[in-house]
Amino acid sequence: MKRVFGVFGDPIGHSLSPAMHNAAFSALGMDCVYHAFRVRPEKLEKAILGAEAMGFGGLNLTVPLKEEALKLEFIKPDPLAERIGAVNTVVFGKTGEIRGYNTDGLGARQALREAAVEMGGSKVVVAGAGGAARAVAFQLAADGAEITIINRTEERAVELAKEISAAALPGKISGTGLSGLKELLQDADILINTTTLGMHPNTDATIATAKELHSDLTVFDIVYNPLETRLLKEAKAAGAKTVSGVLMLVYQGAEAFKLWTGVEPPVEIMKKTVLEALQT
Ligand code: ATR
Repeated sequence: MKRVFGVFGDPIGHSLSPAMHNAAFSALGMDCVYHAFRVRPEKLEKAILGAEAMGFGGLNLTVPLKEEALKLEFIKPDPLAERIGAVNTVVFGKTGEIRGYNTDGLGARQALREAAVEMGGSKVVVAGAGGAARAVAFQLAADGAEITIINRTEERAVELAKEISAAALPGKISGTGLSGLKELLQDADILINTTTLGMHPNTDATIATAKELHSDLTVFDIVYNPLETRLLKEAKAAGAKTVSGVLMLVYQGAEAFKLWTGVEPPVEIMKKTVLEALQT
């Protein structure tokens, strides 16, 4: 019998996860199917327990359910998901245990690694202080980067930096407002945009333009719709190395796939599938 996997969220219609995971299952000849389900936060408990009762192989959670999942007592979060405060991957154990993971930060790390960018000792500017920034910044701190979180609402950046510092990870971290961006970038190795600036339909927006960037910088935009954001265009114009948000999407999915199945996923096929879906 086919094993069923799924992603829960609301809205969920535009999720690329079903195409990506179904392509992976099919390439590996696995008798599995992955489907998107619209689940509202107040129904999350029932939906997860129902999936477990029906023998689902595993789940992803997306907006607005990632934080909600940590409130459910029957989910045992791993330490990183607990620190981040969000679960994007649910694993059903053989003896009924339900575990929660967060693979977003690992996805970001793998995306940077693919571009041959190492985080340990690098000076990284993370723009934004929302859920995506949390996942990325906790991972970077664990990997020993020197991080500055920069955000429109300065207090959020300072607060997040404090929280990450308190976790006593190898990296150094501070938080500040957007006005310091230009100066910080002069001395930085990596800029990661985790804000929604530049996301469809506001494709003209960008956290920085070419004149603030430089050719020794790697610019990673986690926004993947459009495929080439204004920020990535500005980065290219400045001669900087660019990393697409598609890679983070694929690698967070690949990490989830490994947690559910124990099998190494075909990332090139997943990448191709996502790129094709975004180009149509
Ligand atoms: P997510 O969980 O997806 O990261 P979020 O929590 O809504 O989403 O965070 C969005 C991020 O984009 C925030 O850092 C937000 O800045 P504020 O904390 O000041 O709201 C940032 N952001 C959104 N629109 C922005 C804009 N027009 N200019 C600058 N930053 C913006």
